[in-house]
Amino acid sequence: MASLVGSPARSRQSALLPFLFVVILVLSPFLVSAFDEARRIRLREEVRRMFYHAYENYMTYAFPHDELKPLTSTYTDSLSELGNLKLEHLPENYKGSALTLIESLSSLVILGNNTEFERGVLWLSENLTFDVDVRINLFECNIRVLGGLVSAHILATDSKSRLAPGIYKNQLLSLAADLGQRFLPAFDTPTGLPYAWINLKHGVVENETSETSTSGCGSLILEMGALSRLTGDSRYETAALRALRKLWSMRSSLDLPGTTLDVITGEWIVYSSGIGAGVDSFYEYLMKAYILFGSDEFWDMFHPAYIAVQKYFRHGPWYHEADMRTGKATYWQLTSLQAFWPGLQVLVGDIPAANSSHRQFFHIWDRFGVLPERYLLDHDALHPTEKYYPLRPEFAESTFYLYQGTKDPWYLEVGESIVRSLNYYTRVQAGFASIRDVTTMQLEDHQHSFFLSETCKYLYLLFDDSFLVNQNYIFTTEGHPIPIRSSWHERLPQTYIPNNWTSFKSENQANRQSAMQSRLCPATISGANTGISIESACHIPDLRANHRCITDEECGTDSTTCRQRTCSLAGYCGLWFRI
Ligand SMILES: *[C@@H]1O[C@H](CO)[C@@H](O)[C@H](O)[C@H]1NC(C)=O
Ligand SMILES: *[C@@H]1O[C@H](CO)[C@@H](O)[C@H](O)[C@H]1NC(C)=O
Ligand SMILES: *[C@@H]1O[C@H](CO)[C@@H](O)[C@H](O)[C@H]1NC(C)=O
Ligand SMILES: *[C@@H]1O[C@H](CO)[C@@H](O)[C@H](O)[C@H]1NC(C)=O
Ligand SMILES: *[C@@H]1O[C@H](CO)[C@@H](O)[C@H](O)[C@H]1NC(C)=O
Repeated sequence: MASLVGSPARSRQSALLPFLFVVILVLSPFLVSAFDEARRIRLREEVRRMFYHAYENYMTYAFPHDELKPLTSTYTDSLSELGNLKLEHLPENYKGSALTLIESLSSLVILGNNTEFERGVLWLSENLTFDVDVRINLFECNIRVLGGLVSAHILATDSKSRLAPGIYKNQLLSLAADLGQRFLPAFDTPTGLPYAWINLKHGVVENETSETSTSGCGSLILEMGALSRLTGDSRYETAALRALRKLWSMRSSLDLPGTTLDVITGEWIVYSSGIGAGVDSFYEYLMKAYILFGSDEFWDMFHPAYIAVQKYFRHGPWYHEADMRTGKATYWQLTSLQAFWPGLQVLVGDIPAANSSHRQFFHIWDRFGVLPERYLLDHDALHPTEKYYPLRPEFAESTFYLYQGTKDPWYLEVGESIVRSLNYYTRVQAGFASIRDVTTMQLEDHQHSFFLSETCKYLYLLFDDSFLVNQNYIFTTEGHPIPIRSSWHERLPQTYIPNNWTSFKSENQANRQSAMQSRLCPATISGANTGISIESACHIPDLRANHRCITDEECGTDSTTCRQRTCSLAGYCGLWFRI
C-alpha cells in the first residue's frame, strides 16, 4: 500500500531482477533443505486460510461496501476517507465501491481460485459505477481501484482457462478507462502536477487544496501507463509522465525531493523528506516503471535518486529524514512504511544493504510482535502517539523479495513468525483487526483492504511462488501484479544480443527457477527454428557470487538493459555510472 502522510498504506513491488539471481540459483539447492517441504506447505496453507478468513467475512458482513469492521461485523465506506485526515467533504449517499473485492481479485488468482475470481469480475462488471458524487484521494484511488482493475483485467485475459468462455468482454478495462478519465481533470494545473483530491462526478471541487505529496503525484505511472498501453489512449500515461518529469525537475541540487508541494506554484512546502510516508512509492515507481516500460528515462531519474537516498538518509542499516536543501538530518525516526525499502533494493541488486536493513526491521518486529508505525531512533523509544499497526504489508513484502533474491531459508522463518504474530494478535472471529497500540495490543475495528491485496499475497508468494514461474511481473505499490512484456519495452539494438545465447539457456535449464530468478531481457529473440522461446538473451553473470568487484571487468551484463554493469565505489557490480 502506499503512502500518504498519516494514511494507512504504502508499498510496493515486483519482479524481475536479473542481476543477482543467476548466481543464487547455483547456491539454492544447498540452502533450501534447511526448511523442509512439509513445513513450507503447512505455512502456505495457513496463509491461504488467513486470506479466506479475511475475504469471506468481508463478503458476508461488508460487501459491497468498501472495507470490513471485523470487531462489530459491519462495514465502512472508506474510499472517501483514505488519506483524508480531517474527514472533510464526506459524501452523504456514497454506498461503497466494493473496494475490498477489487483489491482481492489478483490475490484470488494467485491462490488459484478462478471460480471466485469470475464471480467477482462479473459482479463488478454489472454493478460497479464511478458516477458517484464522492471526493477521493487520487493516489489511493489510483493504486487500489485503478491498479486493482487493470491487473484483474490482464489476469482475466492472459489465460484462456481462467474464466468461462465468452463471459469476459473487457468490462474491467472499460471500468478502468472510465475511472482514468475521471482522474484527468486533476492534472489540469499550471504545472501538470495533479491535485491530491478529485470528485469522481464533478472533477476538482471549488477551493480545493493545492497541497499534495511527492508520492501522491509521483506514483501514478504504473497504473496509468498500463491503462494507456491496454486501451491505446495515451492521455493517461502522458498525464502521469508529465507530472513525474515536473516533480523530478523540482529536486534539489542534492537530487532529493521534499515531502509536500503546491501543485499550482510548483513549490515545495515541506523540505524534509525520507523514504517513508509521503515519498516512498515515488522511488519505487521510478525503478518499477523502468522495469515495466524499459525506458532509460526512468533509470536516469531513479539512479541519482537512489544514490542520494543512500548518501543522505542512510545511517548504518537505518534511514532517517533529511532536509532536501542541505542534506542535514531532520527526523531520526523509523516508520513502518520504510520497511518496503529492502524489497526495492533487491530489485536494484543491492542485496547486502537490503539484508542488513531487513534484519533491523525484524529486530523491532520481534521486540513488539509487529511493527509499530513510528519509532524514535534517537530515543530508542516508541513514538508517543503513532503506536499502531494497521496490518501493513511492507515487512512481509521485503521478506518475500529477499527470499526470492537469496533463497536463504532464514527468510521463510521470518515469514513464519509474521504469520504467527498476525494470527495471534490480530485474528478475530469476523476477520483481522488492526492494532491500535502495540504496547497493549488493543485492537481497532478496521480490516484494511491492503491486508488482502498485499499482506496475505506476499506471505503466500513467500511460501509458494508458482505464480511467478512462467511470467515475470512487477507488483504495484498495492501488490497488484502487472506482467512484464517485451512489447511494452523500447526495442534494443540487435548488437546487444550475443550469438551464443542458446548455450547459456541450456546451462541453467536443469534448475527449477521462478521467473523472478530468471534472466529477462526486453528484446525478444525471434528464435531461428530453435523452438526455444527465451526473453533473456544478454545476461552475463558477474564473476563472483557475491557481486563484489574491484574492476568493471569483473561485472557482467544487466539483463534488463543489456548494459555492461560497472563496479561501484563500494565495490559492488551494478548499473552504476561513475560518480
Ligand atoms: C474460492 O473462494 C470461495 C469464496 O471464498 C470459497 O468458498 C471456495 O472454497 C474457494 N475455492 C477454492 C478452490 O479455494
Ligand atoms: C449486481 O448486483 C445485484 C444486487 O446486489 C445482484 O443481484 C446481481 O447479481 C449483481 N450482478 C452480478 C453479475 O453479479
Ligand atoms: C471559496 O473561497 C471563497 C473565498 O474564500 C469563498 O467566498 C467561497 O465561498 C468558497 N467556496 C466554497 C464552495 O467553499
Ligand atoms: C545477511 O546478514 C546476515 C547477518 O549479517 C548474514 O549472516 C547473512 O549471510 C546475510 N545474507 C545475505 C543473503 O547477504
Ligand atoms: C558467449 O560468448 C562470449 C564471447 O564470445 C564469451 O565470453 C562467453 O563466455 C560466452 N558465454 C557462454 C555462456 O558461453
